[in-house]
Amino acid sequence: MNQRSDPKINNSYYEVAKSLIHALELKDPYTSGHSYRVYKMSKDLGKLFSLPEQLQVSLEGGALLHDIGKIGIRDAILLKPASLTMDEFRIMKTHVVLGADIISQSDSLKHCLEPVLFHHERIDGKGYPHGLSGEDIPLIAKITCVVDSYDAMTTNRIYTPAKTPEEAMAELKRCAGTQFDTEVVEAFTEWWQSKFIINDQIIGVCSTEELKLNLNQCHS
Ligand SMILES: [Fe+2]
Repeated sequence: MNQRSDPKINNSYYEVAKSLIHALELKDPYTSGHSYRVYKMSKDLGKLFSLPEQLQVSLEGGALLHDIGKIGIRDAILLKPASLTMDEFRIMKTHVVLGADIISQSDSLKHCLEPVLFHHERIDGKGYPHGLSGEDIPLIAKITCVVDSYDAMTTNRIYTPAKTPEEAMAELKRCAGTQFDTEVVEAFTEWWQSKFIINDQIIGVCSTEELKLNLNQCHS
């Protein structure tokens, strides 16, 4: 029996994941909503790839929890209102292994491991933590990577102003084949065009509050 088909397991994993994300957002309110937006967009993208049900569940949970390891990064680095030094960035990069360690503690979350651990790997092998490249990077991690990068680029950060959606899309395309998987960028472009352009107007995904409402209503 897989995660989606067993309502008891499914419910328990999702409730635990939501609690963990709430804890992360209390620590880092500046990124509030990021985890949910990445969850929502990754979920749509997984459907475009027609993932098997178990992989789809792992993508959704992993996308929601992808940055949970930031809970283990000290505030002076996580909330620093300026660029990180090399040493600080080295510490920040540990959030992927810290996240993998956190979710490995729970049998109901272990299926979320790949997006959490590998969402900063790059197709050209220059990512972290393991420098995996190409097909060695799991598809659900490559999907999370593209969606995470898009949302990060289009969100105002402490010291980095947001790019417009068009600028972020151009950046994803520019880095397809080096940082990002080309097929995933193409699928994301297809999704973006269908979701963001309605009557020639570009719209946002939806507000954090709307998204949380949707999450409570539509997760089944
Ligand atoms: Fe991350």
